[in-house]
Amino acid sequence: MLLLKNMTSSTTFDEAAVAEWVADLLAQAPAARVGVWGLIGRGERIINSCPSMKNNLVWLGDSNPALLADYIPASELPISRPASLGLADIDVLVIAIRMEYLDDVIATARKALKSGAYIVSLKGVEQIRHRDYEGASPQATYSPWGADDDFLREYSDIAPNTLVDVYRCYELWQLVGQAAKLQAGALLEVGVWRGGTGALIARCAKLNGLTDPVILCDTFTGVVKTGPLDSVYQGGEHHDCTKDDVIALIERLDLDNVEILEGTFPDESGTALSDQQFRFSHVDVDTYESTRGVVEWLWPRLVRGGIMVFDDYGFQTCDGVTVFVNEMRTWPGCHIVHNLNGHAVAVKF
Ligand SMILES: C[S@@+](CC[C@H](N)C(=O)[O-])C[C@H]1O[C@@H](n2cnc3c(N)ncnc32)[C@H](O)[C@@H]1O
Repeated sequence: MLLLKNMTSSTTFDEAAVAEWVADLLAQAPAARVGVWGLIGRGERIINSCPSMKNNLVWLGDSNPALLADYIPASELPISRPASLGLADIDVLVIAIRMEYLDDVIATARKALKSGAYIVSLKGVEQIRHRDYEGASPQATYSPWGADDDFLREYSDIAPNTLVDVYRCYELWQLVGQAAKLQAGALLEVGVWRGGTGALIARCAKLNGLTDPVILCDTFTGVVKTGPLDSVYQGGEHHDCTKDDVIALIERLDLDNVEILEGTFPDESGTALSDQQFRFSHVDVDTYESTRGVVEWLWPRLVRGGIMVFDDYGFQTCDGVTVFVNEMRTWPGCHIVHNLNGHAVAVKF
């Protein structure tokens, strides 16, 4: 962490100072995406006294999400909190809360924000510096996802049902095509949410002539098995989905190759699949223990040449996934590829 403004000794919240610091930052970085934690009251007053901030607002949070939902429209701020943006997407986080909670919230934000992001609070301005994380902008510009009409058609059908961006969706699309070269094996996704990537995998499998089932597994009650290696996830995130959401998507896309299993994988749903062999899997479960549980169950059932794609590899918010996949690097018969798009890919040989 790099402290850019001195800690203040004030015991009252100096909204004018915070607004001025944000204005200074935005003068240097006019495209910065701004988030505000603690909207109700202080946060709104800071926004309204800093005109440049309004245009850059992308994220609003408060400890009382129920109140927040009503408050945002009433405040007439130019934003409704988008579900797809998280703290890791924010360049400047303004923390506008009571002094007694400030240290705890700043400590949490330091872990969740990306390297280079700023925290502005009554304590001053600091820039996050994570040893293992920095903004990575590859120089290559080849972008076949924009010219692949089959993909674009399917992607537009599933995009409202996924949290996964177009780059990673395109990689899933291409890797299912590669896995079609293998002799046999089902396809598995663990971590389905509203079914977007699962449906994309199923559609791609069909287009490649595969008749094996595509099995989609989720608790449908959100993330489980959080632990000390997961610095942001607490359990229960992404519970805003149902099995019926997924069924509706599968029916709308007329996919007849999908099976859906509900429950924690593999503990509750693995036995139904214990005799299967797999050629492809997408592991999108957000935590160290869930990733470990899925992989330890799946690895002996993955055919030689089979592919596992790990979502969220390298996302600071899912550091447990990165830790587990890095442990796999020493496994015999396992190649790991780190893709800068937020995937790691394991191939069994
Ligand atoms: C990030 S979401 C998946 C996103 C999805 N692939 C998409 O297209 O947007 C993570 C999901 O993993 C599920 N999950 C986490 N751990 C799990 C486990 N051990 N077994 C089953 N589901 C799990 C959660 O319920 C949540 O729906």
